Amino acid sequence: MGGASGSSYNSSIDLNRPRLLDLLERFAGRKLLVLGDMVADEYWFGHPTGRISREAPIPILRETSRETKPGGATNPGYNARTLGAEVFLAGVVGDDGSGRALCQTLGQAGIDVGGLVVDPRRPTYTKIRVVAGSTQEMPQQVARIDRFDDGELDPAVTKRVIEHACRLIPQVDALLISDYENGVISQEIVEACLPEAIARGKLTCVDSHGDLFRFRGATVATPNQPEAEATLHRTFHDQAELEAGGMELVRGMQARGVLITRGSEGMSVFEVDGTIHHLPVSNLFEVRDVTGAGDTVAATFVLALLAGANMLEAAQLGNVAAGQVVRKVGAATVTRDELARAIAAG
Ligand SMILES: Nc1ncnc2c1ncn2[C@@H]1O[C@H](COP(=O)(O)OP(=O)(O)OP(=O)(O)O)[C@@H](O)[C@H]1O
Ligand SMILES: [Mg+2]
Repeated sequence: MGGASGSSYNSSIDLNRPRLLDLLERFAGRKLLVLGDMVADEYWFGHPTGRISREAPIPILRETSRETKPGGATNPGYNARTLGAEVFLAGVVGDDGSGRALCQTLGQAGIDVGGLVVDPRRPTYTKIRVVAGSTQEMPQQVARIDRFDDGELDPAVTKRVIEHACRLIPQVDALLISDYENGVISQEIVEACLPEAIARGKLTCVDSHGDLFRFRGATVATPNQPEAEATLHRTFHDQAELEAGGMELVRGMQARGVLITRGSEGMSVFEVDGTIHHLPVSNLFEVRDVTGAGDTVAATFVLALLAGANMLEAAQLGNVAAGQVVRKVGAATVTRDELARAIAAG
């Protein structure tokens, strides 16, 4: 069992289902602020005409529909909302169609977008997938076009993001910093917002593509393994190196714990007292699309901790939730009912 320094065990077999269901019940109404890089995930669907372009060896599609889905930092927010939380966002969108469509989707889901600054000088970070196929056919991505400006934010925009975040922090139970390294999570924003949340006793979680040691003092972090390795400037070749690295992150961040997600290898949770748990994936066989599964884990992990879970229970809930979203195409969400059924089913 965990407890002694560096101890570990395979914890997949001992889910306390009634306890996890009880925790899930207590997700409702938790208040979460997600601060970070907002992204519009756009899908342009076209029906294949069967013709090849005369300009290049590419298929010609006839446009059928367009859709905008929550991406980047909006995705953990969307996941938390679907799980019953009250969600607030702070960040930046552009004064463009993608930004408006994104805010409309988020608003319809009941997410508070009042903390999003509209910056007319840069486009909404948009990832456009051109998809061939219709509902009757297996859709295939043909191309991806990203529209972005990854330069530094205008100082006036940074100031307004900080104002929104600091206005919202007192109203929420937790702050999740979702850093896709698209330019919003600058040192200035981290220094203004993270200590503010910590000083007010809020639970703070960091999900960052960049250096995790910029977020010292956060309660927890949820990097994937490459992000954890990048922070430590080394690769984990085996379980011993993973365990040493995970504990080094906890100590270096002065965190209560770090959850490292490891794709098809599952996830590992490292606690400040030296306890380590390794969880194999909860769903091995019905994997269709792993995009955004890490966002689902971060959202579930934070809500579980707010509900009173310990680190292992929070990781187990995140693991079962991830097992549900990897069955779905695109960056997906899992509802509270779906998660409850998955926990009950085992
Ligand atoms: N191939 C897979 N099979 C089964 N489960 C998976 C697979 N890939 C991911 N998962 C589940 O999703 C969790 C998170 O995945 P991953 O480690 O890829 O996060 P991530 O890289 O942060 O993802 P993203 O940035 O796309 O949100 C894993 O811990 C695991 O539970
Ligand atoms: Mg991730």
